Amino acid sequence: MTPYLDIAERAARAAGDLLLDMQSSISAREKGPKDLVTQADLAAQRTIRDMVLGAFPDHAFLGEEDVGVDAATLLSHRNAVPCWVVDPLDGTANYVHGLPSYAVSVALVQHGQSVAGVVFDPTMNECFRAASGKGAERNGQAIRPSRCVAMREAMVAASFAPNVPRGSLEVARFVEAVHEAQGVRRMGSAALNLAYVACGRLDAYWATSVKAWDVAAGALILHEAGAVVKGLDGSRFQLARPELISAATPELYRALATLLKRAESD
Ligand code: IPD
Ligand code: CA
Ligand code: CA
Repeated sequence: MTPYLDIAERAARAAGDLLLDMQSSISAREKGPKDLVTQADLAAQRTIRDMVLGAFPDHAFLGEEDVGVDAATLLSHRNAVPCWVVDPLDGTANYVHGLPSYAVSVALVQHGQSVAGVVFDPTMNECFRAASGKGAERNGQAIRPSRCVAMREAMVAASFAPNVPRGSLEVARFVEAVHEAQGVRRMGSAALNLAYVACGRLDAYWATSVKAWDVAAGALILHEAGAVVKGLDGSRFQLARPELISAATPELYRALATLLKRAESD
């Protein structure tokens, strides 16, 4: 597994260097309402693709900035061909505004499951990584989640779609969480949120609008660190349908799942 993790980290760091270099000269455009992309997203993805496929030419590649790729087939549990699932810049809106919370996410997926994953934050020079069955680490040190079991003591984060309609279920869920948790944050990088639950900075995180490339690396890091990651209804987490709740402990998972469910009847 180490050759996969090593190339994933090297590719994520190379992309991170590129993002830092390009930050002062990029211009953003909207690929959907409030959904930004820059030349840096595209250049970082090319760098990662060249490095991982250069090392493993028989593997497949699914990047956020690809169009016309059959993601469902690549992410299917029936697909035995290892596939790199990559978000070259998770947190583009933060990056464009000069906010430090963004990351590069690189995962290797086989049979619909992540087997290796790296989340690299170039601003903090923090590299979170995990391989299936081998634990999770930050800059070479083992990480683990907090022991938080109660919402009133929990720092919770959420990801929303770029455009959230007024009065939507997402807004109702957020209001419930604000009432019950010690704190709620929307920080703008799904990959970093997962890494932060894994290392205890956050106690829980939920997302209903993310894509496989946002969470393929982070969900493995979280699982390997010993945290809980499941669907909203308690079902097994699936990359092909990445609605998720993650939490430091099973007790906190249940508390957050109950709270989010309650928002549906409000
Ligand atoms: C976004 C971030 C954000 C989440 C959005 C994603 P991008 O990714 O992960 O936290 O709320 O749903 O699209 O567009 O910056 O790569
Ligand atoms: Ca993303
Ligand atoms: Ca992205």
